[in-house]
Amino acid sequence: MTLETTSPVQITPVDPADPEALLAWNALLRDGYNAGREAAWWASEESTLAQYGDPKPGRTSVLLLAHLDGAPVGAAGAEVDPGDPAEVEISVLPRHRRRGVGRALAAAVREALAGHAEVVQAETYSEAGVGFARDQGMRLGNQEHRLLRAMPLDPEALTGAADVPGLEIRTWHGACPEELVEDWARLTTQMDADVPMGDLTRPASRGEVADLRRNEQRMDDQGWTLVRGLALLDGTAVGYTEIFVNRHDPEILTQDDTLVDRAHRGRGIGRALKLANLENLRAVPEVAGARWIQTYTALDNAPMLALNRALGFREEDVLSILEGELPRA
Ligand SMILES: CC(C)(COP(=O)(O)OP(=O)(O)OC[C@H]1O[C@@H](n2cnc3c(N)ncnc32)[C@H](O)[C@@H]1OP(=O)(O)O)[C@@H](O)C(=O)NCCC(=O)NCCS
Repeated sequence: MTLETTSPVQITPVDPADPEALLAWNALLRDGYNAGREAAWWASEESTLAQYGDPKPGRTSVLLLAHLDGAPVGAAGAEVDPGDPAEVEISVLPRHRRRGVGRALAAAVREALAGHAEVVQAETYSEAGVGFARDQGMRLGNQEHRLLRAMPLDPEALTGAADVPGLEIRTWHGACPEELVEDWARLTTQMDADVPMGDLTRPASRGEVADLRRNEQRMDDQGWTLVRGLALLDGTAVGYTEIFVNRHDPEILTQDDTLVDRAHRGRGIGRALKLANLENLRAVPEVAGARWIQTYTALDNAPMLALNRALGFREEDVLSILEGELPRA
C-alpha cells in the first residue's frame, strides 16, 4: 500500500509482526533521532521485538517508512491508548532533510491516527524538531533537561544523606513486594497528578494495583529490571524512586520518577531515597556494563536540578515536548 503519491516521497506501512522489517524501521527511526547526540538512548532490538510481539490491549500503533528514489530515508511511529494523547515520533536521516520527507510522514501519521486520538504529542531534542513541529501547527508544551552522569558510581559518591528521624528506606529489584504495592500504587498515582507537565495534556493515571502488576510484567518481558526505593516516615509511605536497567542493553540507565509527598519536602528525603537506590543499583549484575545514567528534570524544577547536580549529573541536552490537535474523524 502506498499512502502518498503526489510527492517523490513514498510512504509505506511497516508490519510489526515481520521481525526484519520491524528492526529495520526501529534502526532508521533511531538513526534520524539520535544523529549528533551524545549518549542517546534507544530501545534495543530485543525490547522492540518483545513490545510489538505482545501489544498492549487496546493500543493503536502506527509504523511507517519513507523512501526517496527507492532508498529508505525516514520513519515515523505513533502509539495511542484509548482516551490518551497519541505519542508521535518522526525522523529523517540528516542528509535527506528539508526536502519534505518529514512533512509527508506527518501527513500519513495524521491520516492513520484519525479517529484514534484527538491530541498528539511529539518529543524532540533539536531546533529542527521544534521548527518542524511548529510548522505542523503544534505548540511547545513542556521542556526538560536531560542530565547525564558517568558510570560506574564510586561508593564515596553515595554518602551524605541527611539523618531524618523516623525515616526508613526500603529498596528492591523488580516487582513491588506485596506488602508495599498499595503504597506504591498510591504514590505513582500522586506522581501522575503532580509531575510538572507545563501546558501538556496529562495522560490517564497509572491507576490501580492490577494495572501496576500488568505493567511490571510487560516491563520484565521487555528486559527491564526495575530498581526501586520507597521512603517510609514513621511507617507511612511518603516517597519513591525508580531506576530502569535494560538487561539487553545496559549501557545507558535511566533514573525515572522520584516523588516526595508535598507535606514532607525540604527535609532531605529525596536525597536519601536517591542515594539508597543508587546503592541498590550497584547490586544489579548488568550495571557493570553501564556507561551512563540519565535523568530528566523540568527546566524550572530548581530543587530537583540542585539535587541531581549534587549527585554528579550534568545537563546534556533539552527535551522539548510539543502538542497539537488532530481533526475529529
Ligand atoms: C524534524 C525532522 C523530522 C524534519 O524532517 P524534514 O524532512 O527535514 O522536514 P521537512 O523537509 O518536511 O520540513 C517541513 C518544515 O518543517 C520546518 N523545519 C524543518 N527543519 C527545520 C529546521 N532545521 N529549522 C526550522 N524549521 C525546520 C520548516 O518549516 C519546513 O518547511 P520548509 O523546508 O518549507 O521551510 C528532522 O529534522 C529530524 O529527523 N530531526 C530529528 C528527529 C526529531 O527531532 N523529530 C521530532 C519531530 S517533532
